[in-house]
Amino acid sequence: MSIPVVTVGDSRDDLVGGLERLHGPVSVVRRCSELAELLAACQSGLARAAVVAAGGEELTASLVDRLSAVGVVVIALTDSPEETARLRTIGVAAESRAVEAAALAARISAAVAQLSGTGHRPGRAGSDDASSLAAPAVGQVPRSSGANPATAGTAAKGRIIAVWGPAGAPGRTLVAANIAGELAAEGQSVLLVDADSYGASVAALLGLLDEAAGLAQACRLADQGLLDADALLRIATTVATKAGTFHVLTGITRADRWTELRAAALTLVLERAREIADVTVVDTGFCLEADDELGFDSGAPRRNAATLRSLELADTVFAVGAADSIGVPRLVRGLAELRTAVPQAAPQVVMNKVRTSAVGRSPERQLRAAWERYGPSAPLTAFLPSDPAASDAALLSGALLLESAPESELRRSIAALVCAPAQRNKKSFVFSSTAERRAKG
Ligand SMILES: Nc1ncnc2c1ncn2[C@@H]1O[C@H](COP(=O)(O)OP(=O)(O)O)[C@@H](O)[C@H]1O
Ligand SMILES: [Mg+2]
Repeated sequence: MSIPVVTVGDSRDDLVGGLERLHGPVSVVRRCSELAELLAACQSGLARAAVVAAGGEELTASLVDRLSAVGVVVIALTDSPEETARLRTIGVAAESRAVEAAALAARISAAVAQLSGTGHRPGRAGSDDASSLAAPAVGQVPRSSGANPATAGTAAKGRIIAVWGPAGAPGRTLVAANIAGELAAEGQSVLLVDADSYGASVAALLGLLDEAAGLAQACRLADQGLLDADALLRIATTVATKAGTFHVLTGITRADRWTELRAAALTLVLERAREIADVTVVDTGFCLEADDELGFDSGAPRRNAATLRSLELADTVFAVGAADSIGVPRLVRGLAELRTAVPQAAPQVVMNKVRTSAVGRSPERQLRAAWERYGPSAPLTAFLPSDPAASDAALLSGALLLESAPESELRRSIAALVCAPAQRNKKSFVFSSTAERRAKG
């Protein structure tokens, strides 16, 4: 069966006409005058491939993501090496403007075969949805071997740790930021990403005077295929403690900016993060709801894309819950939602704010018993004590626990989550003032 193709833009010697005259593997079902028309045609299920002969500069990762969500591969014509590299980064196959119709048809067939090989189901739009991870938009089309700047070379691949937790401020941000600090103190290169699209607060916790929404900036560049390692490092704020330095992508400054954190762009940001950091720690939002079915075909951005995509891409997921009679049931329900939304997540449960006043004597034993009764399969990995004095002092000075309460049990328990034993036992770090940090930020 011939592959239905839509095109936009005129090309040399009427290349599109040449495709039609092949009467072979592809058939041009519509010539569009602009990308918006091409997108609409693809979303109506008309095509399996789109040839962008002009206006390829306007292609973004999000647009390509929407096209691949409806089973359409994108091939753009360009003679610029920079544009070719940019297009490949956002998942577009680039062809020379001098390509012959037969060669282009072969390229289209190969790209379509590759997309089918990923097991992607065409006709289901909205890949900001969690379930689309099996076929991420970027990286689906064939790339010439090793030429893709996103995957070229032997760039070491860092790990991603996502810190999630249900509604009710269980301590996601405190845990995420302190994990980042502890890993940095251990000598690892660390990037802390604030992906909470409801209540970003990493900047506030670290005492950063940051209005820049670094993650939104990084997503914007990634969407355009322009986020290289240097750009990511430029956007990230440097946080210096006397024990170590790490980078931060601060979160959106208002919750209504969530549309700036789209799944396709965030995927590219985290892919890049793996190249610049040994460990990327992502502070996520609480909400895991997928948008309603009505939204599916519109290709609209997804409210919880940042949280869901972070959890999908993470190598380790910590699920933080408040250890009291409100927090534990919330965590149990949240874990059930997590299992549905991101089945591959394998969360490790962290009970936070553990205290006898809320749970009774021997709180860890009580919590373990309760956990066994409720029966979620996720393992209880850690108990972090409630320590309002230490956490308030840290907040007040915009510091991490390793600076403001280095000897505290809370700090030690967080370090024990991620660090080698030697590091966990390290006694004190000299406090580095907030003023100094701001100067570096
Ligand atoms: N172990 C703890 N002991 C005492 N207070 C804590 C602890 N963990 C977090 N907190 C406090 O709880 C509040 C919410 O923490 P935060 O990390 O912002 O939660 P979330 O990111 O889940 O909304 C903050 O005031 C924080 O200092
Ligand atoms: Mg938070």
